[in-house]
Order: sequence, then structure tokens, then C-alpha cells
Amino acid sequence: MTTLLISRKVYPMIAITGATGQLGRLVITALLERVPADQVVALVRDPQKAEDITELGVDVRRADYSQPATLATAFVGLDKLLLISSNELGQRATQHQAVIAAAKAAGVTLLAYTSVLHADTSALGLAEEHRQTEQALHASGVPYVLLRNGWYSENYLASVGSALAHNALLGSAEEGRISSASRADYAAAAAVVLTSADQAGKVYELAGDESYSLSELAALISQQSGTQVAYQNLPQAEFEAVLVSVGLPAPVADLLANSDAAAAKGALFGDEQQLSKLIGRPTTPIAVSLQQTLAAL
Ligand SMILES: NC(=O)c1ccc[n+]([C@@H]2O[C@H](COP(=O)([O-])OP(=O)(O)OC[C@H]3O[C@@H](n4cnc5c(N)ncnc54)[C@H](OP(=O)(O)O)[C@@H]3O)[C@@H](O)[C@H]2O)c1
Repeated sequence: MTTLLISRKVYPMIAITGATGQLGRLVITALLERVPADQVVALVRDPQKAEDITELGVDVRRADYSQPATLATAFVGLDKLLLISSNELGQRATQHQAVIAAAKAAGVTLLAYTSVLHADTSALGLAEEHRQTEQALHASGVPYVLLRNGWYSENYLASVGSALAHNALLGSAEEGRISSASRADYAAAAAVVLTSADQAGKVYELAGDESYSLSELAALISQQSGTQVAYQNLPQAEFEAVLVSVGLPAPVADLLANSDAAAAKGALFGDEQQLSKLIGRPTTPIAVSLQQTLAAL
């Protein structure tokens, strides 16, 4: 009698929180270039926003950081989990703690967390909740890897339209150098880490290969657009007031002005070049991201 042995390789299930966010969507795209869709789980606060992700063949599950019962259900059967930090400032440490507890209960074998560049020493006000999350991860016993993401180029490029309208790029960063990279670069790095072996215990300081000051960015905007834009440095409180006056919510204005003031002291600068090493190509230069921004205006 012949025994038919069917060998079936079991692949790890890789899940992404915040999958309907800007970074989350890019991570899903980058992951699908590396693994089949049935190996990917999109964890979302609102599944109605994720119909396009379901169409890709990805399993979409509801997971709200503020509702731990949804996390327990959503995390069943997961091997690796990317925790994309929440955008709900002030609630993030508690929310992330809930995700870490649920990951531990589900037996997740690797939790990757999107922290902030040089989180342990960073002067950025927003780094505090990342430090608390890193400490919670350390205390949890869950195997983890830190993706300490630097600034997104998109953050400053969001001001290009108003800079062109007023012939001025405003900020409080003085001549601080900014090593930003595109969201897609950070997403590609997350996909590499999630699909590579032996990542537990690693800490990646991720930033762009090149750095620039806001004066240099203003000069680049002028050069590429043909409209003269000058950098105008403002005291932190004045910059914050301008951001509120153009309609930004007070906590966001506070965060942006605080981040600029810290940038003046080097908080957005990193020269480790770990991001390009991880993704196997140079990071996207600010000049290229700016061209894309101008083309979309
Ligand atoms: N490095 C940087 O320069 C930089 C800049 C800005 C932000 N960040 C951080 O990086 C994260 C990702 O960036 P991003 O550009 O993708 O931000 P984003 O587009 O605002 O995405 C944030 C994601 O968090 C999800 N979320 C918020 N509250 C949640 C909750 N209670 N339960 C489950 N999910 C929740 C959102 O869900 P919905 O889709 O349902 O809204 C969204 O998918 C941000 O959240 C923030 O922590 C970094």
C-alpha cells in the first residue's frame, strides 16, 4: 500500500495595524511585492474604509486600539505584527499598551513598532509616547523590533502650496538639518523587516540619505516652481499661532511648532544611512518628492 504524503509549508501570517492610514496602505503594497496576499492581514479601525484592501485578497479584520476586545479577536493566528503608532495624540501610550498586551496573549512571535528617530534621546515632544511604548514593549517579553522612523518628507511638502501663495516658507527650525524620507521608503523598510528572519531585538534608526535645511528647501521650491520662495524663521510661539490661524487644531499646531524647534537642535537629523541599507536602494531625495508635489498641485 502506498502512503501519499502531502507536505504543506506553513507560512507566517503578517498583520499591519492602521492599515487604512497613509503609511499602512503603503506597507500593504510593499508587502504584496514580497509575499502572497493570503499571508497578509490588514487590521483596521473601520472595515468600510478597507474595501479596496479586501479586493487585493488581503484578510481585513477590525482592530480598534481603544477597544481591547476587538484586538483579542483580530489577533488570532497572527505570527508577525506591525504596530503602526496611533495618530490620537495623548492616548497613544495606553492604546499601544493594549495592542502589546493582546499580541502577547495571542502568542505573536515578532512585534515591529513604528517609533521615532532616536526615541531614547529625542528632544521632540512627540517622542515621549514612543518612549513609553518602547518601555512597555521591553517589559512585555514579546519579541520586538523597533523601526525608529525619521520625518516624512510629506510633512514639509504639505506646506508647498501655501509657500507658493505667500512667497514664504514659514517655520521655527532655524538652520537645523532634516533627514527626511518618503512614507513609501519607510513602508518598504517595514515590509523588508516583516519578511526577514532574525529581526527580534533590532533597533533601526531610519532616516533619509540626504539632509536639508528649510532655507535649502525654500530655494529648491523656488528653483523647481519658478516662483520665488524665501524661508522665514519665526519664534516657536509665533509659528504655532500662525498654524492655528490657518485652521490647524491647537494640539497639531503645538506639535508641529515643537517639532520645528527641536529640529533646530538636530532632532530630525540622522546620518546612520540604515534606511537605504535596509531597502537596498537610496532613499527618495527631497527634490524628487518635491517634483511629485508640484505636479499634483
Ligand atoms: N514620521 C513622521 O514624520 C510622522 C508624521 C506623522 C505621523 N507619524 C506617526 O506615524 C503614524 C502613521 O503615519 P500615517 O501617515 O500613516 O498616519 P495616518 O494616515 O494618520 O494613519 C494613522 C492610522 O492610525 C489609525 N488609528 C488611529 N486611531 C486608531 C484606533 N483607535 N484604533 C485603530 N487604528 C487607529 C488610523 O485609522 P483610520 O484609518 O480609521 O483613521 C490610521 O489608519 C501616525 O499615526 C503617527 O503616529 C509619523
